[in-house]
Amino acid sequence: MAKVAIMGYGTVGSGVYDIIKTNSEKLCVNANGEPVELKYILDIRDFDDHPEKELFTKDVNDIINDNEVSVVAEVMGGLHPAYEFTKSLLESGKSVVTSNKELVATYGTELLEIAREKNVNYFFEASVGGGIPIIRPMHQCLTANNIEKIAGILNGTTNYILNQMIKNGKTFETALKDAQQKGFAERNPAADIEGHDACRKIAILASLASGKLVDYNDIDTEGITNITLDDVKYAAAMDAVVKLIGYAEFGKDGKIYSIVSPMVIKNDSPLSGVDGVFNAIMVTGDCVGDVMFYGKGAGKLPTASAVVADIVDAVKHSERSKKIFWEKPQGNIMADKNSKKFSYFVRTTDTAENVQKIFSNCSFVDNIVDNESAFVTEPLSQSEVIEKLSMLSDVVTNIRVLN
Ligand code: HSE
Repeated sequence: MAKVAIMGYGTVGSGVYDIIKTNSEKLCVNANGEPVELKYILDIRDFDDHPEKELFTKDVNDIINDNEVSVVAEVMGGLHPAYEFTKSLLESGKSVVTSNKELVATYGTELLEIAREKNVNYFFEASVGGGIPIIRPMHQCLTANNIEKIAGILNGTTNYILNQMIKNGKTFETALKDAQQKGFAERNPAADIEGHDACRKIAILASLASGKLVDYNDIDTEGITNITLDDVKYAAAMDAVVKLIGYAEFGKDGKIYSIVSPMVIKNDSPLSGVDGVFNAIMVTGDCVGDVMFYGKGAGKLPTASAVVADIVDAVKHSERSKKIFWEKPQGNIMADKNSKKFSYFVRTTDTAENVQKIFSNCSFVDNIVDNESAFVTEPLSQSEVIEKLSMLSDVVTNIRVLN
């Protein structure tokens, strides 16, 4: 019998509870015949009406000091006290599984190292892509490849918002409220709409792919707060959509280029049709080529399904630590920001003549808004585009185009 605990009884925590209760036979079979029994739920709130209210505790030491508990699901989110609790649990010889991308991206190197030393596991399948299997496939199934590129729609909330704007002509604010009511958005919506959530997730994937810690502070991050309905309409006119993309490219020299940014994606790309709260991650390996992972990237049961899968895996591997890790790099591993060129979709109130003079190789797009010029540039580095845009009298929008 494997005794487990849940830390945090919010959307994901209650989903973990539900799955453990409803799929208990299936979990037992998949955990090599070992029943998975819930012994504690940690939360600072009262749940007096809960049918198993005796499981609740407000004191993490009840879990840390209970030798029967072998696996703990940390689904509380945030850095503190999740970090301190996770560290103490791993040090006391318990495996921890998590959906907490902020914690994995910030303290993952140290927590994975402690897990390795203690011969337990720190699993984080639910931290990227919600219910989509991506961490294990990257770590195991794609292990024969040098990963060349990752491009992903990694945030369900922003994808839902953009989709509502594109398909239903909703304003940004109404679509955001909708997403919050459906339980997709983070407690602080800034994490979603300003791209920080996607940034943590691409940092985790890039660290996993390279074996070296990619510090999310080194990833230029732009959210979707400046994207307007007009931008979305222009994209549609170009047979494209606007999506928030987490992007990483791995050079043969060991350098990594990474960015989070809204991008115009042509409708012939598989990423363009990813709607609503769905996520998709395109991984390019040197042997396998492109593979795409697709599914629900947020929400109670999809995310909980990945957390519970980690619980079962931790129960199955209670005698050994699986060697998932990355290390702190010696020196800078990030590529020069100008090493990557993108085309840009630009809107300006300047004249077409001026645009043509400054951006000699550009293609104009039919106007949707009066008195402006809209065009797509040739591939340009960041400093090239900044220089050229500064020569226009006014820039309404500039959005990278995913190539
Ligand atoms: N707020 C996140 C999203 C939840 O919208 O994708 C899953 O990490």
